Amino acid sequence: MKLKTMLATLLLAMLPFISFSQKGQLNLIPKPQSVCIGSGKFVINGNTTIKGNSDFAVKYLSDKIKSSSGIDVRESSSALENFIQIDVNSQSGLKREGYRLQITPEYIKIEANDNAGAFYGVQTLLQLMPASVYGEASGWEKWEVPCVKIEDYPRFGYRGAGLDVSRTFFPIETIYNFIDWISYHKINTFHWHLTDDNGWRVEIKKYPLLTQKGAWRGPDEVLPPSYGSGNKRYGGFYTQDEIKKVVKYASDRNITIIPEIDMPGHSKAVIHTYPEVGCTNENKQMSVNGEVNNVWCVGNEKSYIMIENIVKELVALFPSKMIHLGGDEVNMDNWKSCPSCQALMKKMGMKEEIELLNYFVRRMEKIVNKHGRVLVGWDEIIKGGDLQPSTVVYGWGSMKRGANAVRKGQPTVFLPGQYCYLDMKQSEYERGHNWAAIVTLDSTYKIDPIKMNDFTPEQEKLVLGVQGNLWCELLDRPARFMEYQFFPRLCALSEAGWTNPENKDYDDFYFRLTKTHYERLYNMGIAFRLPFPNVKYENNTLKVKLPYDWAVVRYTTDGTEPSATSNIYTGDIVTFEPEKFRFATFYRDYNKSISVGASNIELYNYITPKVSIESSYDAEYTNNRFPVSNITSYDFKKYWRINRRSQAGDYVLYTFEQPVECSKITVETGIPNITFYSVTDGYVEYSYNGKDFIKGEEFVYGTAVIEPKDRVKAVKIVFTGMSDALITAFQNLKIEK
Ligand code: ACM
Ligand code: ZN
Repeated sequence: MKLKTMLATLLLAMLPFISFSQKGQLNLIPKPQSVCIGSGKFVINGNTTIKGNSDFAVKYLSDKIKSSSGIDVRESSSALENFIQIDVNSQSGLKREGYRLQITPEYIKIEANDNAGAFYGVQTLLQLMPASVYGEASGWEKWEVPCVKIEDYPRFGYRGAGLDVSRTFFPIETIYNFIDWISYHKINTFHWHLTDDNGWRVEIKKYPLLTQKGAWRGPDEVLPPSYGSGNKRYGGFYTQDEIKKVVKYASDRNITIIPEIDMPGHSKAVIHTYPEVGCTNENKQMSVNGEVNNVWCVGNEKSYIMIENIVKELVALFPSKMIHLGGDEVNMDNWKSCPSCQALMKKMGMKEEIELLNYFVRRMEKIVNKHGRVLVGWDEIIKGGDLQPSTVVYGWGSMKRGANAVRKGQPTVFLPGQYCYLDMKQSEYERGHNWAAIVTLDSTYKIDPIKMNDFTPEQEKLVLGVQGNLWCELLDRPARFMEYQFFPRLCALSEAGWTNPENKDYDDFYFRLTKTHYERLYNMGIAFRLPFPNVKYENNTLKVKLPYDWAVVRYTTDGTEPSATSNIYTGDIVTFEPEKFRFATFYRDYNKSISVGASNIELYNYITPKVSIESSYDAEYTNNRFPVSNITSYDFKKYWRINRRSQAGDYVLYTFEQPVECSKITVETGIPNITFYSVTDGYVEYSYNGKDFIKGEEFVYGTAVIEPKDRVKAVKIVFTGMSDALITAFQNLKIEK
């Protein structure tokens, strides 16, 4: 060591480390438990070497540096300075998955108790580097990291991300990307929801039809169209070979993949390919998703033989200790009318169908336990009887339902919809469900199953951790909506899972996220969601509140979508036509928020002529909560809901009391904003006299526009093919003067 560097080291060692506080200068996510910032830096250059006994972490880090910066950090065990060392040492005194990262001008040392900790030390180190370490360097970066000492470990042993691949299918390449993205955030579990009513996605060699038929939907398939798949063949599955490789890839990154086969409900893909395991009645009772004939028969031994065989292949693919076999949202009325199920109830002396669910779950436990694994199920499984103490419950329905599982003595993962369901919309204006809540970044950040409950110390031990979960009914569009829904809410979840509550602060998190982590997400190649600005019109002036002080907001003055070349907002805008302005937040011209106008004025001036409705739908199909009168109300939040799939020939006719003078009529279908249950194949017609109709546009994503030349007497929606949902929804016409 040179004298100068020796002195520097000594000085650094003597310097009291400045405690990491408030606005975290390093802007790490998830925030480490303890950070001391020193002075000086370590420079990575062509002479830097790497060594250590955590082979994967060593190779992973040098690969990341090489592929982004081009700097070749070679392995060498002899260097005394300018080296990086990653050691796993069971005497380190560190916690599971924990690490100690020390950066001085001479070296970077990562010490950990296990390979997981070594990997996480590397992840923190990556966050200290230029963000392009996740992508490709521009050539202008300084490849240096600040001197720090970080000691870190996770709050919870389970930090999950769950993805449904049944409703929307993601190619295996996306799964690899996803594993990378979650591993950067120290998430250690990927819960893979592999089967549901709308597609079976895992190859099972003994039952090839599950994927030959059950993985596909379309007009001529075993499974009908749904969730935006349209009238084309849609689907896909993962081969066992693909799964083995992805399991290994994840495991290297300290991610356990928990497979889920959802049973005994949510099972249309099985029941329609192997009908012998469904109940012997007609199975006509609808599930909450409107599906029929989607429940396994509990009273039929054939069911258990098939499940045993499936689980045998599953455990050979997934080394995970936990095997998830569903248990949610079963419509037990199916069992009420099934002779086999009823015979079993009688034989066992059961009084209610919920006991059948418990019976089924207990048999699942046996099947899974036989392979040395533990069963996981959704929170409905705590009803109807006891469970094995080892059986893990996923508390999803509410915080209370998770807490009830804990109080019943079951190990529990918390993913209550109100905080953790990332298919919920992020604001009133964005696409997404809201049956649980509008789930903001802030609400995901707040999830804390310990602080939010009043558990005894023994009960606290049963809280395994938290999970962010994405159901994919709405992910058919727009492109890369999966990323938009996960990020950055999963960044918030990662901190909820990793960081002790005393180190958590939402404003501080938001600062770190917007100031530095966005740039990391950008370099990771994630199409993350940006917050939109808050715009108000007062005293003839448009005033914009930026979502964060350094946000770039662009705007248009003609009602069109802002683009990367639109003007940048720099201050108040005086105007008498505020309704024409649209604003959006941009990140590096790469990513933008939804666009908004002033929230306190009417942006659209629709006219509201008296209109009546005629249609091909019998009254019995109307859902009474959403009556037809909703679509003559011009309340644009309301809609008319039909409980059936539409077919070619179905129609809805809007007839105006008086012909209407207008320039444009926008005909939107489906639920407002999210266009769920819309027209798949069809067109609009319109008439000036109410008798002769002119054919207009085909529907694209549920919308068609009419630009009439004369006063309009009637507008008709005409289906030319079946819709891709079991429900159809219609809206008020948007008529412009
Ligand atoms: C669930 O959301 N049905 C687990
Ligand atoms: Zn049955």
